[in-house]
Amino acid sequence: MNRKKTAILVVSFGTSYEETRKKTLDRMEDRVREQFPDVPVYRAWTSGIIRRKIEKRDGIHIPDVKSALALMAADGMTEVVVSPTHVINGIENDRMLEEVNACRYLFSRVSVGRPLLTTQEDNRRIVQVVAQELAPKEDEALVLMGHGTEHYANAIYAALDYQFKDMGHPNIFVGTVEAYPALESLIRSVRKRNPARVILAPFMVVAGDHAEHDLAGEGAASWKSCFEKAGFEVSCVLKGLGEYAGVQEMFLEHVQSALDELKS
Ligand code: CO
Repeated sequence: MNRKKTAILVVSFGTSYEETRKKTLDRMEDRVREQFPDVPVYRAWTSGIIRRKIEKRDGIHIPDVKSALALMAADGMTEVVVSPTHVINGIENDRMLEEVNACRYLFSRVSVGRPLLTTQEDNRRIVQVVAQELAPKEDEALVLMGHGTEHYANAIYAALDYQFKDMGHPNIFVGTVEAYPALESLIRSVRKRNPARVILAPFMVVAGDHAEHDLAGEGAASWKSCFEKAGFEVSCVLKGLGEYAGVQEMFLEHVQSALDELKS
């Protein structure tokens, strides 16, 4: 008889920005280790571009999902919890699920955690966490930059914009850098509120390339430049969602539910 050995695989898109990685992805994984000290924790990144970049630049090899699962099987793990740090149930998460399904035969049981925003309760929580963490004053507008996707899960960004207002935060707005709602919609909505200042913040787990360039960059197309051009005073908070204690708590709870499922 084989002895049961449980492990957790934390799956992220990845980032080549070391400073934000330490405060977000590394911290989230450390919190999993603190919470479940007897369970080995592994890492996988889904972005091939970023994995190759890190390997070339820093000589650090980070496995993709399939390689990480193969490594875990080789290490003798028999039951696996896969925990994505993805914000939504979009393309990256679908791809991860495909890869996990292809490797299920390696283990006696596999349980997959849900992305940060999956249930209506998750959405309610994130509204509270962000409103508490960034706490814009009444005469300020907080504008959050989500990633955005061509996947139908993109509808969540407009739903969250609605929910912030519905939960008593008429001065918090959500848009995306790559899909709808885009910058033009945001500028239109923010203008109606006529705030004294606009605060921009990423609504992504890490504050990497999109935060540095598309949000706060000096280029003419950045959200900062465009809001300034529209006549607003702008400040930027370059803090990834993964840095928020409240988001780390949500992540840990999702890991816990996936672990519970393994036991059921
Ligand atoms: Co992108």
